[in-house]
Amino acid sequence: ARSVGLIGWRGMVGSVLMQRMQDEGDFDLINPVFFSTSNAGGQAPAFAEGAGTLQDAYDIETLAKLPIIVTAQGGDYTSEVYPKLRDAGWDGLWIDAASTLRMADDAIIVLDPVNRDVIDAGLDRGVKNFVGGNCTVSAMLMGLGGLFKNGLVEWGTSMTYQAASGGGARHMRELLNQFGTLHGAVAAELADPASAILEIDRKVLAQQQDPTMDASQFGVPLAGSVIPWIDKDLGNGQSKEEWKAGAETNKILGRASGQRIPFDGLCVRIGTMRCHSQALTLKLTEDLSVAEIERIIDADNEWAKVVPNTKEATVEQLSPVKVAGTLDIPVGRIRKLEMGPEYISAFTIGDQLLWGAAEPLRRMLRIATG
Ligand code: HSE
Repeated sequence: ARSVGLIGWRGMVGSVLMQRMQDEGDFDLINPVFFSTSNAGGQAPAFAEGAGTLQDAYDIETLAKLPIIVTAQGGDYTSEVYPKLRDAGWDGLWIDAASTLRMADDAIIVLDPVNRDVIDAGLDRGVKNFVGGNCTVSAMLMGLGGLFKNGLVEWGTSMTYQAASGGGARHMRELLNQFGTLHGAVAAELADPASAILEIDRKVLAQQQDPTMDASQFGVPLAGSVIPWIDKDLGNGQSKEEWKAGAETNKILGRASGQRIPFDGLCVRIGTMRCHSQALTLKLTEDLSVAEIERIIDADNEWAKVVPNTKEATVEQLSPVKVAGTLDIPVGRIRKLEMGPEYISAFTIGDQLLWGAAEPLRRMLRIATG
């Protein structure tokens, strides 16, 4: 079995990754070496037999002995450690969840159900860096991969509904605390069916606008509100998250600048836990029937699942509550728009921690060790 260094396995994405690796028996196929940024010498986790003690995640010499390193430690760690490792002559495979190296020419964004051809070609020509994509992009391509891969998308726009988990664990806690604070502000009135709703609404708003309300992670309250900006301000009116949608989609699909598919839209944070949703408008290259579009989406991979475009099926099957904790990527609300026969809508949802983060890395490790 090949030795694989694991870094950032205790954080939120790392924990989801470790759970998936246990579920799929991946630890039977590798010799895991666990690292820590804060607790070197401590006990390695019990789920991997005989893993021994934790190694120092900043010890370049120890890291450089490994043929494969998988990190979910975050971008700061990658920025600090990755260049030192390569400078030390390390030529192993670097599998990373962080965005730091994603767009580099010598890195491939991994989403193998969509771009296994790009990954295999990269391995053949000696590419060593394999990076997980932005969560929204990966979830979208898992759902609509069939249309993109078959060259059926002329352009697309995605309006997102992104969960608190995209910000991190502390953001999820903050959202829940805010919900609790808001409820607390009107609990007495809510218990009285005769109380006036406009008075309840006034009190909730006063609480949301109260400067003492904890919004230290998101900057402004998210509970009962939305934040239509995610990630950095690029200074051209676009957020970095919105830029990633077009840049990463095309990179994953292996499309060079001349054959780029225009893909753009607005990214919005909403008060859900860990599933990113998005409403899409696509202009197709052909006038396909809805039945044919549904067949192509469904047939592309085992996780994309078409939800019939009825009220009942949509409400029942197309929600973050339904999808969270699963690898399913439901795609619904598929219909022709008034703009013309090539214009369709779709709505898709993916667990931001699974297909959006951990699963593409886990699968890349399988490919690398297979
Ligand atoms: N940028 C994403 C978000 C996180 O904030 O939702 C994962 O790519």
